[in-house]
Amino acid sequence: MKNFIVFLVSCTFLFLLLISPASAQPEAKALVEKECSKCHGIAKVNKASKDAAAWEKTVNRMIKKGAAIKPEEKDAVIKYLSTLNK
Ligand code: HEC
Repeated sequence: MKNFIVFLVSCTFLFLLLISPASAQPEAKALVEKECSKCHGIAKVNKASKDAAAWEKTVNRMIKKGAAIKPEEKDAVIKYLSTLNK
């Protein structure tokens, strides 16, 4: 019985590990397309080519202007943005 519980817990962790990066990307894309096209077109975002550090600065600036990106969503958004035009 104990072994079975250990097995179940391990499976849950493995499963979460597997789904987390895969599910973060499409959500971040949808969020960027919705929130980042409010003041300017999404083209301004999609044609930019920045690395993660540069995107972090840009995203922080956009949040100050009023972009509705939550602190917990920021990492996924920056990760998605830095894959654009690469
Ligand atoms: C509240 C309005 C607003 C929202 C929402 C917004 N932006 Fe902007 N954005 C601006 C304005 C105004 C400028 C031009 C002035 C500037 O660059 O600071 C701009 C400029 C830009 C630029 C070009 C300048 C640069 O640094 O390359 C990029 C890229 C950009 N925004 C990306 C984004 C992204 C990504 C998001 C979503 C997280 C976003 N914006 C959401 C207002 C907004």
